Amino acid sequence: MAKIAPSILAADFARMGDEVRAAKDAGVEWLHIDVMDGHFVPNLTLGPDMVKAIDKSVDLFQDVHLMVTNPENFFGSFAKAGADLLTFHIEAAPEPETNVQMIRDLGCQAGISLNPDCPVEKVLPHLHLFDLVLLMSVFPGFGGQSFIPETTARAKTIAEYIKKNNLPCLLEIDGGVSRLTGPPLVEAGADILVMGSAFFADQDRADLVRSFAGS
Ligand code: DX5
Ligand code: ZN
Repeated sequence: MAKIAPSILAADFARMGDEVRAAKDAGVEWLHIDVMDGHFVPNLTLGPDMVKAIDKSVDLFQDVHLMVTNPENFFGSFAKAGADLLTFHIEAAPEPETNVQMIRDLGCQAGISLNPDCPVEKVLPHLHLFDLVLLMSVFPGFGGQSFIPETTARAKTIAEYIKKNNLPCLLEIDGGVSRLTGPPLVEAGADILVMGSAFFADQDRADLVRSFAGS
């Protein structure tokens, strides 16, 4: 079984309050917030003000995905805005230990992410420090891309490592996840599935959430 974390990038920005409350009504517990800086990735999205506005609108766990260079410059403002989990990329912080401590000192959970071309072996030795590992199944930068099929085997390797070492680290997958691409990821050991376009376009979101919660 897995939780769906809707990526608000695919929501209607003009109706964000209604969108996040509807997501909660559909049964989700997490929201995924995609932060892009136009430098680490070639796109610009949201900042802490959006997290703050959502925090006021709905009681949901805010999973903040920092696709930014120098992520440590932004931990404080996102934590203050109401983020619950701060995930940064290993590509932006090759020695992640210091960042973890900063995040914990701010009272948030800590996550580490890796791009599709990053060998999983690069993150495995750090996982004992983290609450979550976010495995990208597309190159970050844009919603609505196609799922990269090699991700499933990579997810399995990470999940097996977590299990073998008995680590309290969740595995989350991000990019092109849908009703179709999701189930093999759950089978591989994913705990959280980020869903942007597939969630907001679904005709029966409650059924979507339930189908993964029960799988
Ligand atoms: C990609 C983002 C993803 C993306 C997910 O850079 O990190 O979270 O918005 O959207 P879909 O599910 O549409 O691929
Ligand atoms: Zn994301």
